Amino acid sequence: MNDDVLRQAPLFSGLDDDAAAALESSMTPSTLRRGEVLFNEGDDGDKLYVVTDGKIKLGRTSPDGRENLLAILGPGQMFGELSFFDPGPRSATATAVTDVDLRSLGHEALSPVLNAHPDVAHALLNQLAGRLRRTNEVVGDLVFSDVPGRVAKALLDLAGRFGRRADDGIHVNHDLTQEELAQLVGASRETVNKALADFASRSWLRLEPRSVIILDLERLQKRSR
Ligand code: CMP
Repeated sequence: MNDDVLRQAPLFSGLDDDAAAALESSMTPSTLRRGEVLFNEGDDGDKLYVVTDGKIKLGRTSPDGRENLLAILGPGQMFGELSFFDPGPRSATATAVTDVDLRSLGHEALSPVLNAHPDVAHALLNQLAGRLRRTNEVVGDLVFSDVPGRVAKALLDLAGRFGRRADDGIHVNHDLTQEELAQLVGASRETVNKALADFASRSWLRLEPRSVIILDLERLQKRSR
């Protein structure tokens, strides 16, 4: 595990070395295998988590069994805090998309940290505000954008967090199946596949298993608007 990744999380914002080391030592490491469920929507929640390696998907299931992905989180990102700030059951199911390393912190250990370190409270509010902002955008896009526009936007979001620039383009190892990409975009797999195939035929991107290579960032950005 990489301590730097952990300390980039909002939870460590503004902490000096001693406070950061104390917080880190109160966190428990754990690992998940690809596909393993960490917790289910509706479970009681008493911990929050920081991803230190790999990717986690947060999703919800409709009564008729359809799945919607709210977010894909990677190293340095935190989840499981909603049931602390708004006590109640887990608002989503957390599943490992890849093999994952995590650190967890009991909710009971968070209050003293927030009371002693206003910077941490500020950073967590900042993260919550960012998520609300993003959620508003997603809701707006579901109403105002077509599926190709939403696919383009989702790919750009994944590229921003998981992309790596290379000579031939931006390599985005998102680790998602086409089914999961469709669940992230809120559309059927067929429609999402069609949009991806169309982008590929225009040479905006190249499709690879569980990754894409973005060849024409500008066109993709235009299509996402
Ligand atoms: P909690 O409700 O404890 O468990 C599920 C977690 O998923 C939740 O806390 C948040 O950390 C996370 N989560 C829920 N909704 C979103 C969202 N729209 N974007 C990112 N993360 C979310």
